[in-house]
Amino acid sequence: MKKYAEMSKDELLAELELVQEKYDALKAQKLSLNMARGKPGKEQLDMVSDITEVLKADSDYMCDGIDVRNYGNLEGLPSCRKLFADVLGVQPENVFIGGSASLQLMYDTIAKCYTHGRVNSDKPWAKLDVVKWLCPAPGYDRHFKVSETFGMQMITVPMTPTGPDMDVVEELIRDPEVKGMWCVPKYSNPDGIIYSDETIRRIASMKPAAKDFLLMWDNAYCIHEFFGDYVPFPDILGECAKYGNEDMVFEFASTSKITFPGAGVSVFACSTHNMEYMKGLLNAQIISYDKVNQLRHIRFFKDKDGLLALMKKHAAILGPKFRCVLDALEREIAPLGIAEWQRPNGGYFVSVNTMPGIAKATWKLCKEAGLTMTGAGATFPYGKDPKDSNMRVAPSLPPIDQLEKAMEIYCVSMRLAALQKLLAA
Ligand SMILES: Cc1ncc(COP(=O)(O)O)c(C=O)c1O
Repeated sequence: MKKYAEMSKDELLAELELVQEKYDALKAQKLSLNMARGKPGKEQLDMVSDITEVLKADSDYMCDGIDVRNYGNLEGLPSCRKLFADVLGVQPENVFIGGSASLQLMYDTIAKCYTHGRVNSDKPWAKLDVVKWLCPAPGYDRHFKVSETFGMQMITVPMTPTGPDMDVVEELIRDPEVKGMWCVPKYSNPDGIIYSDETIRRIASMKPAAKDFLLMWDNAYCIHEFFGDYVPFPDILGECAKYGNEDMVFEFASTSKITFPGAGVSVFACSTHNMEYMKGLLNAQIISYDKVNQLRHIRFFKDKDGLLALMKKHAAILGPKFRCVLDALEREIAPLGIAEWQRPNGGYFVSVNTMPGIAKATWKLCKEAGLTMTGAGATFPYGKDPKDSNMRVAPSLPPIDQLEKAMEIYCVSMRLAALQKLLAA
């Protein structure tokens, strides 16, 4: 098969006829498929559903000498803090266990900057005229939404195969109005990139002009390998501390893609100084989070090894789904030269970069043929992808047979969009 860019007009027209026919046949099947969001599939949820039973055998609901059914221990059960400290490579006293979603902790951390300021702010950010924020992109749409909600001026930082372009970051943080940055350091959403040690060193050693700069280190996929073994990852708190930057960073994680999304436990990790400050503010907001659920999680995993063993079972379900997506792209799209993509070993997404100018059209064609994809542009601040090229594929939810069909629609739609674009040129 020739690359589309090398085809003559007649060849493109002949190909268009063929692809249009395939597309129409798929559309006629009136399918309803979804590869839009990184949701675990039913098989994964079934696999962990025993967690709802583990407390039945507990007669007293005691843990660490604490009755988990009662108020108290705002920062979480000591055993739960220890478990996540082991996972993140930090000390238990630097871990705070929150509610059922890390996004809420992230939102709240930023909200507190606006209402109260940070440990080292001159004034709450709500009193500032402008707050600028660094957004490595493609990135996680909900991060960008949080920034947008607070009226931040988002600045796109290009992603490279080793993480955010640090030359750009180091230049931008010279501006005192730049107050922070989003990072998904391991299996980034959507690229699936692991930040290199050098990128992490450069981030941890930054000297931003804003002394209350906030590094939002969202380690959502810290143990989420689906191909190969668990990859150990540097502890960002320790890295920042090496450069006197211990108060710069908040790290986040959750069990959303380990047990139940929306019904797991979330954590943040931060310096002692930040911890005292946050606890002071959170104390006005909540008496204690759901320790019953924390105990369920402790009983279910037991320790880090228990967690990693469970992640292997998730991988056994997710690996074939990612293989299905990657194989389809390799077979149907690679020979045509109309897109490139990452080949991640973990996380929840495959990030596809189509030839410029066809992501939106591809999305629309998919939709009309019964396949919902993440909105084209969603992976960029303000939903605007300057090249109209990046598409996030989320293979986790559909069963394999549906995934195969979904990829058929996706690839045919992309081919059709590419042909229409090339013929219109
Ligand atoms: C990078 C990233 N962070 C956070 C979340 C959401 O986490 P939670 O369910 O803990 O709010 C997701 C979900 O897709 C994500 O991809």
